[in-house]
Amino acid sequence: MQDKYGRTIEYLRISLTDLCNLRCVYCMPEEGVCKLPHDRILSLEEVAEIAGAAVELGVRKIRLTGGEPLVRRGIVELVRALRALPGLDELVLTTNGILLPALAQPLRDAGLDRVNISLDTLDAEKYRRLTRGGALEKALDGIRAAQAAGFAPIKLNAVLLGGVNDDEIPALCALTRDRPIEMRFIELMPIGDALYFGPEACIPVDTVLQRVPELQPLARAHGSVARRYALPGAVGSVGLISPVSCSFCSECNRIRLTADGCMKPCLHSAEEFPLRGLHGDALRSAIIAAVNAKPEAHVEFTATQRSESARNMNQIGG
Ligand code: GTP
Ligand code: 5AD
Ligand code: SF4
Repeated sequence: MQDKYGRTIEYLRISLTDLCNLRCVYCMPEEGVCKLPHDRILSLEEVAEIAGAAVELGVRKIRLTGGEPLVRRGIVELVRALRALPGLDELVLTTNGILLPALAQPLRDAGLDRVNISLDTLDAEKYRRLTRGGALEKALDGIRAAQAAGFAPIKLNAVLLGGVNDDEIPALCALTRDRPIEMRFIELMPIGDALYFGPEACIPVDTVLQRVPELQPLARAHGSVARRYALPGAVGSVGLISPVSCSFCSECNRIRLTADGCMKPCLHSAEEFPLRGLHGDALRSAIIAAVNAKPEAHVEFTATQRSESARNMNQIGG
């Protein structure tokens, strides 16, 4: 599918649930999580039908997200169903890793190609504070389970938070020395609960290059939003994702489906296209309408200009 600006749209991100087994401070409020009522959430059959229509229209890559996608019951069966869609090149998932010890191998056997796992810190106490109660050891067990199941490359996502985890940049980069992982640093986007920390936490991802000057640039991987680097002699790589300081909208290749069945043309715009109840031609037309509604770029973020999305990050899935 081509959008109005000539971009090829071939990547669908599907949020399977707004629920999560953690409560990251930049992603979800502590209390009063506006949990979608059960009957507003798409069934897995509905998800598979929408995904099938999107693949018929040219989507080649699907990422399952949340909230936390692994808390959704039936995820392994969904992966198996999506894997069977003719024309789908890549089926991947973004998770906090907590449930991977039980699910990594079944997901791999069902045909999942890759996993990206959130890891903002290597300090157990900081992890507990950032996730409001999560256990770092469980996330690390999840990463080990993903490696043991044969997922590769595994990408680890750290949201860069000035004054919180920027002191750990060298230690996080060092994880790539003897492991085939991509350690990615992501700028905090001003959406939903993200400004919990105040503006001083929003630091540019180029901070990583200042703190670890030995990083050498690598070629950009196709379709990835990360600029890639490596430590000399390292097995893995380091990725920098800069949605705030250096927007990658001109290369945007994606659309998003929310757990309640709305297609979002852009992560940061309020516009949504409800797909629930549509089938066949009507469903395909609505997906095409969402692609046609993609803006050229998201609003320029400033001290006062935040994302125009009407949803919190846990309801979109990044
Ligand atoms: P790969 O397929 O492995 O390259 O992963 P990915 O970067 O597409 O997915 P992931 O879920 O790991 O997302 C990494 C970060 O990039 C998250 O913080 C997302 O919110 C952010 N991100 C992903 N897509 C977009 C986008 O379209 N716009 C902006 N501004 N940020 C995005
Ligand atoms: N800015 C940047 N990344 C975010 N994520 C969640 N909220 C934000 C935000 N405000 C990240 C998570 C996860 C990915 C899907 O999105 O840490 O790695
Ligand atoms: Fe859950 Fe991921 Fe949001 Fe953290 S960032 S609360 S792990 S959905």
